[in-house]
Amino acid sequence: MSDLQTQMKHAVATAAVEKIEDGMVVGLGSGSTAAMMIQELGAKLSVGKLKDVVGITTSFQGEVMAAELGIPLLTLNAIERIDLAIDGADEVDPSLNLIKGGGACHVQEKLVASKADVFVVVVDSTKIVDRLNLDFLLPVEVLPGAWRQVKGCLSELGGNAELRMATRKAGPVITDQGNLVLDVSFLGGIEDPELLESQLNNIPGVLENGLFVNLADEVLVGEIVDEVASVRHLTSN
Ligand code: 5RP
Repeated sequence: MSDLQTQMKHAVATAAVEKIEDGMVVGLGSGSTAAMMIQELGAKLSVGKLKDVVGITTSFQGEVMAAELGIPLLTLNAIERIDLAIDGADEVDPSLNLIKGGGACHVQEKLVASKADVFVVVVDSTKIVDRLNLDFLLPVEVLPGAWRQVKGCLSELGGNAELRMATRKAGPVITDQGNLVLDVSFLGGIEDPELLESQLNNIPGVLENGLFVNLADEVLVGEIVDEVASVRHLTSN
């Protein structure tokens, strides 16, 4: 990650934490930008700048960080509502539809985002695209015993799927739920994200896909203006 990209991510992470108020239940996203947000939240809680905030994590990454930073956690089953969820994204289109799952956490991320009253996305400017999936492959989480069958179904929908392989471990990436991930590209990108999201989730053996459609309320975009990191706010209509 370039130094400028780190600065952009840090700027949006800090801006997102400013939206957190005392007593809130907050969805804690995954990935490097969300990690900066969790770090900042932990720092504010530790010095009393924020009080009584409870986190709902979207991955083991968040659980580990929250434990180290002393952020109290609850589980989805233990709460009635989430006030605010903050998470990163891999791509954001002009309608604020997203591709997520670069960290293979999109199953829990979508659960948390869809339960939140407000879902705020934090990205650097490299994530803004005209059309989803021209550059970033769409992650689809599948049951281990079904990955080849699902790959065949994806091919019938026009998708070319690759099993995501691990680094520093032999074999495929195993998700926090114990499943596998197929990364899919559609020639020409994704024309209708809403239709594709439901078509993919209708394939037997698919747990969830990384299309987040009509979920983001606001996207904070980190930019470098006059060599300084600043934040642009995009809101859904
Ligand atoms: C993990 C995600 C991440 O939020 C997404 O990959 C963005 O990550 P980063 O902030 O590191 O660029 O969806 O599943």
